[in-house]
Amino acid sequence: MSDFDFLIEQSILSCPVCNNSLQKHEKLYICENGHNFDIAKQGYINLLQSNKKHSSDPGDNKNMINARRNFLERGYYEPISNLLNEVFISNIPHLSNPLQVVEVGSGEGYYINRLKDCHDGNYYGVDISKHAAKTASTKYHNITFVVANAVELPFINNSVDVLISLFSPFYEESAKKVLAKHGIIIQAVPLNNHLLELRQVLYEKVNINPIPKNVLTQAKYFKLAATKILNHSLQLSDQASIQDMFSMTPHYWKTSPDKIRELSSLQKLDITLEIEFRIYTNED
Ligand SMILES: C[S@@+](CC[C@H](N)C(=O)[O-])C[C@H]1O[C@@H](n2cnc3c(N)ncnc32)[C@H](O)[C@@H]1O
Ligand SMILES: [Zn+2]
Repeated sequence: MSDFDFLIEQSILSCPVCNNSLQKHEKLYICENGHNFDIAKQGYINLLQSNKKHSSDPGDNKNMINARRNFLERGYYEPISNLLNEVFISNIPHLSNPLQVVEVGSGEGYYINRLKDCHDGNYYGVDISKHAAKTASTKYHNITFVVANAVELPFINNSVDVLISLFSPFYEESAKKVLAKHGIIIQAVPLNNHLLELRQVLYEKVNINPIPKNVLTQAKYFKLAATKILNHSLQLSDQASIQDMFSMTPHYWKTSPDKIRELSSLQKLDITLEIEFRIYTNED
């Protein structure tokens, strides 16, 4: 650390080596034991240790992140973001100043960026994909993007006021550790008809949308306080949007080449969004 590397703030981030809090300096984060993590030139930090990775490039790849960025920038999912903001504003716990908000699996940052304009606070986006953190921090500022695994969230105990998870893996034990006693969780999960028309093109037989892995269906530590359902129809009116939507979903991994060709011939696709927002409080 140089003499010109000033202390900027004490953050709620924790050191992945010793769990002490990390302090932000101009160019790095450092804990009291001297473990330090550079701030990348785009502004994100990588707290994912190589011995904790299950692959050399975990999470969404560059193509998926670019597709997500292109798609979200066209505003198709603004109704989801608007409902998230509404749910957030009406459930904010007013006990903390500054409010500490963390999105887990934040992708390229669209939702947390729109959320941060709703209320003052410190905003963090965590994703296991370094492409996600890089793409997010290049465009969106005043949010700390962190490469880390949701299984071991890198925050000090009981420090997070609002934990958000949108269509992303969620691990209850890890959330329990970092959430403040008065904290809340906002989770968005797809319901049966979500992206039904896309699934009808991709599969011979359309199954009920499986509940994704690790959502809080039977929460052990949290209490379901409220739900809100979004039903919305939109039309994708060009091939690029159809391809981008496809590439940002888990169907990207499991679709046959035939079906990909079929999708490539479409110029229009009506799409149903059906999503449930769930608000959980900490159960103690
Ligand atoms: C379906 S995307 C959703 C991204 C964003 N929430 C959105 O809706 O635009 C899921 C995200 O979770 C990330 N992810 C997957 N496993 C993860 C883990 N164990 N810890 C943190 N992030 C993870 C992926 O890299 C990806 O960016
Ligand atoms: Zn340390």
